[in-house]
Amino acid sequence: MKQLLTLNVNGERHEVWAAVHKTLLEVLREDLHLTGTKHGCELGECGACSVLIDGVPMLSCLVLPVEVQHSEILTVEGLAHNGQPHPLQTAFAELGAAQCGYCTPAMLLTAKALLDHNPHPEREAIRQALAGTLCRCTGYTKIIAAVELAAQGNPESAHV
Ligand code: FES
Ligand code: FES
Repeated sequence: MKQLLTLNVNGERHEVWAAVHKTLLEVLREDLHLTGTKHGCELGECGACSVLIDGVPMLSCLVLPVEVQHSEILTVEGLAHNGQPHPLQTAFAELGAAQCGYCTPAMLLTAKALLDHNPHPEREAIRQALAGTLCRCTGYTKIIAAVELAAQGNPESAHV
């Protein structure tokens, strides 16, 4: 059975018929073809599926899309603005903070939520904000440095 959903994603309103059992993660990837949001454990444990819902990081594998029809959903595809990467994307690229990249969309969005709330976080606050997103590649050091760099707003002053 399918249901008609109206979802506000990355500033655009989408109407989509989707199977009633699908999670937000599945609707984003399979029906809206926004595959930047990654499919990991589907159990709420890895954080790879995080998106921002009304500015708050949420695990899209645990959200039913019908619950968020009146919310603003931001995925990694919506991070760039007017063709320019978000400062976090620039900082991740500058510092090589992505390796396989599987965790990167969730890291970027979670870090954006932090910086929107706390523009100059201490390192410990960054660690805490990103703690729910697992990275199997980087050891986290460059990711945390990239968030600090984006917070500084100056790619020239990178220290890794
Ligand atoms: S896929 Fe959602 S937390 Fe792992
Ligand atoms: S870069 Fe591979 S899981 Fe984080």
